Amino acid sequence: MKTESTNKLTGKIALVTGASRGIGAAIAKRLAAEGAAVAITYSSSPDRAEAVVKEIESAGGKAIAIQADAADAEAVKRSVNDTVKQLGGLDILVNNAGIAVMAPLDQFSLADYDRLMAINVRGVFVASQEAANHMKEGGRIITIGSTNAERMPFAGGGVYAASKAAVAGLTKGLARDLGPRGITVNNIQPGPVDTELNPADGPFAESLKGLMALPRYGTGDEIASFVAYLAGPESAYITGASLLIDGGFAA
Ligand SMILES: NC(=O)c1ccc[n+]([C@@H]2O[C@H](COP(=O)([O-])OP(=O)(O)OC[C@H]3O[C@@H](n4cnc5c(N)ncnc54)[C@H](OP(=O)(O)O)[C@@H]3O)[C@@H](O)[C@H]2O)c1
Repeated sequence: MKTESTNKLTGKIALVTGASRGIGAAIAKRLAAEGAAVAITYSSSPDRAEAVVKEIESAGGKAIAIQADAADAEAVKRSVNDTVKQLGGLDILVNNAGIAVMAPLDQFSLADYDRLMAINVRGVFVASQEAANHMKEGGRIITIGSTNAERMPFAGGGVYAASKAAVAGLTKGLARDLGPRGITVNNIQPGPVDTELNPADGPFAESLKGLMALPRYGTGDEIASFVAYLAGPESAYITGASLLIDGGFAA
């Protein structure tokens, strides 16, 4: 999708975690198209992260890629500080990096539980804590949660749903911490979005579509458009909110 630049984010600096592909890459490109300088993180796909940077640069934007495993607190803190050093500050943090592990209860390992929580919850806390040290009034923290915090209609997804419910709660509390400084904190909860994590032609696609008011997958660009609104000046009175963009999955 081609996005016409509105320049609403000109002069702003954004960090998007887990943006070498999928929803994160769409968000990074959209924020750059709106005028922000963008840092992206990745854990294991340097070539793909570099391709996202190149695409932003060839459209006239500014971007850098930083390797940082969201499960590694020191790496996450370094990614925030490198963004500030290399781009000159931090106004917008998008906590997008996340994984999904689905397995029957009797086969769900504690190692998978710990890794999923470390990336989907602990990484969000560490990045938000570090980013808040650098943000000024008007700062934005936006987390990509999931509609599964509201509705988990099949077996095996309890830990993923718990991680996304945790960030919904974290969002409420952090909004209280940072509200007095004029920084907003919100949680976007997508439904099924066509990415490598959840392909629209994958094994679950038909059953998922059957659960929705709009029986189709969303796109990364649709999620990115909502993020751009929450990152911009028009959303200044929204904070502590978990907002569904899910084709009516939880309706
Ligand atoms: N797709 C959906 O249907 C859907 C629905 C609701 C919510 N979400 C949420 O949206 C977010 C993005 O999902 P997606 O569908 O775009 O996933 P994806 O296609 O699997 O992409 C995940 C991105 O995160 C990065 N990443 C993975 N583990 C990481 C780690 N430990 N540290 C840093 N980066 C890491 C990946 O880069 P590397 O390969 O370099 O690690 C990749 O760039 C997740 O939080 C997910 O839970 C997705």
